[in-house]
Amino acid sequence: MKMNPPRRLQGQVQVPGDKSISHRAVMFGAVANGTTRVNGFLAGADCRQTVACFRQLGVEIQAESDTSLRVIGKGWEGLREPQTVLDVGNSGTTIRLLLGILAGRPFHATIIGDESIARRPMGRVVHPLSRMGAQLDGRENGKYTPLSIRGGNLSALTYESPIASAQVKSALLLAGLQAEGVTHLTEPTRSRDHSERMLASFGVDIEVTAEGVSVQGGQSLSATNVKVPGDISSAAFLIGAALLVPDSEITIRDVGLNPTRTGIITAVRAMGADMNVNQTDICCGEPIGDITIRTSSLRGIHIGGELIPRLIDEIPLLALLATQAEGRTVIADAAELRVKETDRIYSTAQELRKLGARVEETEDGLVIDGPTPLIGNECNSYGDHRIGMMAAIAGLIAEGGVEVKNAGAIQVSFPGFVECVQHLCVE
Ligand code: S3P
Repeated sequence: MKMNPPRRLQGQVQVPGDKSISHRAVMFGAVANGTTRVNGFLAGADCRQTVACFRQLGVEIQAESDTSLRVIGKGWEGLREPQTVLDVGNSGTTIRLLLGILAGRPFHATIIGDESIARRPMGRVVHPLSRMGAQLDGRENGKYTPLSIRGGNLSALTYESPIASAQVKSALLLAGLQAEGVTHLTEPTRSRDHSERMLASFGVDIEVTAEGVSVQGGQSLSATNVKVPGDISSAAFLIGAALLVPDSEITIRDVGLNPTRTGIITAVRAMGADMNVNQTDICCGEPIGDITIRTSSLRGIHIGGELIPRLIDEIPLLALLATQAEGRTVIADAAELRVKETDRIYSTAQELRKLGARVEETEDGLVIDGPTPLIGNECNSYGDHRIGMMAAIAGLIAEGGVEVKNAGAIQVSFPGFVECVQHLCVE
């Protein structure tokens, strides 16, 4: 795929549904009692994989359109032992949350994924779920896929998570709901809280305090309707494009504005972004609104600490912005990036350098000096959707454009990405 600099960007768009919320809507609907209708579902590769896994677990999921589903839940007991292996593809959220659900189910399942999943750490959920009483095993003592699980008879757990991970937190909450007693979790800094919000809208009694989150075991979920907001992590690439391409002004409508996800807005505002954010609605506990962005002169900033989990998926894009900002940008406390779909510290630095940017890797982040005019080249997504989109947006400002290899990976979270960007481009 080739991206070239347009004259400017202008217009209004919507981005596809939020990935985290789409996964959860299908999973929670699958174990709830009754029919859950999901509107605005993200028809990307990851979320389709979640649908396929739950169909294999015996759940009827009807597609009314690409983005509208009916999930016919029959409660926790409605899940059936799968006949063949469950394949999560590229999706970390699918495998980790699925393990939390299966930990309480009295049957066996084997789970695999693609090459990227095979490198990603699973011990972070395998160990605490084993402590709750599930039987899990896998390659290298349960560190990696393929994994096998036989669930049932869980006891509650009080767990101090060593990492701020919504996938770990959600897996343990889902297991905790099926366990005997009260499960209580804390994390070093707060990760995204979509599970907490959505479980409450499925009728679950869940206690969230400044210290952590608790659920009483033995609770069932009641079906509800979920309207999925646009994914702010997808919108981030368009926000970045409008900031960088001269004379631009765009509006992205109906984007999720959950405060545990809006670190990108905090960061680009600190960099000097000219933008308006207008909340218009709340659906299933998730705030939704419109974002207008205009081309802006950016300055380098320090990004670290508690802000990191609120923008973890936006760091490749922020690194691109930093190449165009005046001065130095330091991104720290982001070692988690090394275990995403790719090692995103390495892949971000590598691809931006190919375009002439001044980027250094550190153990837990990046140091970027700007501004540097980008020179077009060929970039690789390495099979990572967010690296592919970062390179594509770089193509909008790099002299001669950017050819993105393995651009198919973008389908994981942003089907229609190229068309969406082209719709905004004024030639
Ligand atoms: C996600 C949580 C984050 C994020 C991922 C989606 C989720 O990962 O990076 O894209 O839906 O729970 P961690 O749980 O590892 O923080």
